[in-house]
Amino acid sequence: MKALVYNGSRDVSIAEVPDATIERATDVLVKVTTTNICGSDLHMYEGRTNVEPGTVFGHENLGEVIEVGDAVSQVQVGDHVCLPFNISCGFCKNCERGLTAFCLTVNPGMAGGAYGYAGMGPYRGGQAEYLRVPYGDFNCLRLPEDAVEKENDYVMLSDIFPTGYHATELAGVQPGDSVVVYGAGPVGLMAAYSAILKSASLVMIVDRHPDRLQLAKKIGAIPIDDSKISPVEQIMELTKGEGADTGCECVGYHAHTPQGQEQANMTMNNLVQSVRPTGGIGAVGVFLPEDPKSSDTLAQQGKLAFDWGLFWTKGQHVGTGQANVKAYNRRLSKLIASGKANPSFLVSHQLSLKDAPEAYRHFDARENGWVKVLLKPAG
Ligand SMILES: NC(=O)c1ccc[n+]([C@@H]2O[C@H](COP(=O)([O-])OP(=O)(O)OC[C@H]3O[C@@H](n4cnc5c(N)ncnc54)[C@H](O)[C@@H]3O)[C@@H](O)[C@H]2O)c1
Ligand SMILES: [Zn+2]
Ligand SMILES: [Zn+2]
Repeated sequence: MKALVYNGSRDVSIAEVPDATIERATDVLVKVTTTNICGSDLHMYEGRTNVEPGTVFGHENLGEVIEVGDAVSQVQVGDHVCLPFNISCGFCKNCERGLTAFCLTVNPGMAGGAYGYAGMGPYRGGQAEYLRVPYGDFNCLRLPEDAVEKENDYVMLSDIFPTGYHATELAGVQPGDSVVVYGAGPVGLMAAYSAILKSASLVMIVDRHPDRLQLAKKIGAIPIDDSKISPVEQIMELTKGEGADTGCECVGYHAHTPQGQEQANMTMNNLVQSVRPTGGIGAVGVFLPEDPKSSDTLAQQGKLAFDWGLFWTKGQHVGTGQANVKAYNRRLSKLIASGKANPSFLVSHQLSLKDAPEAYRHFDARENGWVKVLLKPAG
């Protein structure tokens, strides 16, 4: 089958790889119809991880079931399914509590597995024609009759919609809250969208890319361009000096100044300043235990110069980590089915698999207009 493989830093190509097959009785085999490029793929693409050359990327996958293993009972050939980026077993100590991003079974020695991702187990990604789905009964979200019609909405359930929602859960967003989101990439836009769906009274979002800020405005958030204005001062003004009730970190260790200088602690410290005393912060942007290629010596060791004193004095709290997609994807799918949520508003490009290497180049440069790329391997 054809798949997108990693060759080395900023070098991916479409190659012929062995077909995905049923390997265990609990597996499901999916013909991939939509698979997205994610900001998380760029960490590997940019050579910042220890991902092996030859790895097939792709953890935001949706497709049609073409074969099921003998032990699969709920999923049938012909079902349209969306797959959480986390691969999980459903029966370990963490899965049984809904913490499927920290499954103890699928990636021995670590907590958590995923498709096509550095350090997340031996699983190939779905930027390919076919995908093997382990523990298929547990991992497949079967989609309703409008699966094909709303495919570009449902595919967002694989990662960024639940991840944005998770940021608001970690932050403790309640109806009526004011919320500030740092980062208007796909994840930040989904966090802002989730806060709006939860009836937040005021949603502010900080970035410096005009196209992304424009989308934020379209969904009803207040865009704050930090290349023009101090975001902390602006948030203080908009909240009458109080600070936002809650905040979301949707950038990660790549946080940089508007001029492009990397500063990993920038968003977390801005959040401590922007959120009111006793407010909650949800941090879903990725930070790494080590980042040897960073220009910052602290970041190289996975450390952050965090304003702990101010954070503590303000009595704030923070929740972190990968999103437990299974905890939310079924509920969020109902919002799509009922027409209350249309997360496909952020799709900027739909391309065939062969165009993926070119798309990686544009998306990695955060070129104007390249917000979210969907690949259609079957079309
Ligand atoms: N926790 C999870 O489960 C999970 C899932 C998916 C993605 N992620 C992570 O979430 C993060 C965002 O993903 P994405 O796809 O939106 O990525 P992205 O890189 O497309 O978007 C990040 C945005 O942050 C902006 N930014 C950079 N520095 C900033 C600063 N100092 N202040 C404000 N904005 C700033 C950039 O301009 C960019 O628009 C990444 O770290 C990604 O790996 C986490
Ligand atoms: Zn992703
Ligand atoms: Zn598990």
